[in-house]
Amino acid sequence: MEYFKDKVIIVTGASSGIGLASARLFGSLGAKVVMAARRLDKLMELAPSVADEDHVLCVKCDVSSEEDCKALVEAAVERFGGLDILVNNAGLSMRAMFKDLDLKVIHSLMDVNFWGTVNCTKYALPYLLERKGQVVGVISIAGYSALPARTGYSSSKYAIRGFLDTIRIEHLKDGLNVLVFAPGYTSSNVRNAALTADGSAQGETPLDEGKLMSAEKCAKHLAKALRKRKSECILTGLGKATVLAHRLFPRLTDKLTYKFIAREANSPFK
Ligand SMILES: NC(=O)c1ccc[n+]([C@@H]2O[C@H](COP(=O)([O-])OP(=O)(O)OC[C@H]3O[C@@H](n4cnc5c(N)ncnc54)[C@H](OP(=O)(O)O)[C@@H]3O)[C@@H](O)[C@H]2O)c1
Repeated sequence: MEYFKDKVIIVTGASSGIGLASARLFGSLGAKVVMAARRLDKLMELAPSVADEDHVLCVKCDVSSEEDCKALVEAAVERFGGLDILVNNAGLSMRAMFKDLDLKVIHSLMDVNFWGTVNCTKYALPYLLERKGQVVGVISIAGYSALPARTGYSSSKYAIRGFLDTIRIEHLKDGLNVLVFAPGYTSSNVRNAALTADGSAQGETPLDEGKLMSAEKCAKHLAKALRKRKSECILTGLGKATVLAHRLFPRLTDKLTYKFIAREANSPFK
């Protein structure tokens, strides 16, 4: 895809999963990739698999910190002279019923997922506008149709969608492309890292990760949606069906979602 050649792309959450697979794909297509995450050592270890040293920059960044996000954008622009695409991918999940939940869990999810996207977009926007660039929010099907035991996750993903849909209209005449990208279940570390009721990591996944979409395939969908300058991309058959059903038959979808989650290993309903 010639489209990405020499484009400067920031990917947050590039140390694992969908972010890492996307960084690698952009790197293989000739982009200048800025990899951001909290674990700088991990990024440095992975950077050679993304691009040669002239085409990759690793930046330690906790996206919940406005200062870190400002510094991330400044480092990208200083190193590569501008910015074409911001991929707000860094994210954190959870799994616990709201009645049992320490509210710090919802604060953490909003800080990373929602505020991380707002922080990075705020500082990247002037540079993106200079190049008629693109901003992406990696949300989830849970950002269209709520998932029980993921109050903080669904809320944060709905909020990102509202934020980005608004930015799109504000810049409708400026050439900015705003993409809401919603993967379905994708194999990654997200469920291991998900927070439980007391804020500790779940440390296991209730799903058979081998049966899910691979992060590499998800990254290919992201690249295609960016190349076509789409404003929305919803993945997987189940994901598309869920979003449509939620729009057309919301109460029936509530019941089906309840049944679906009740069948999960260690279901929170049990
Ligand atoms: N996998 C799925 O089934 C699925 C489905 C729909 C949507 N998504 C979304 O896809 C995105 C990527 O998730 P994934 O599945 O690839 O999960 P993952 O393998 O757990 O990767 C999450 C990434 O986010 C980074 N991160 C976490 N907290 C951060 C923070 N405070 N600041 C900066 N970086 C942070 C992690 O790096 P460090 O720990 O090094 O900071 C890691 O690189 C998330 O937004 C997730 O909600 C995933």
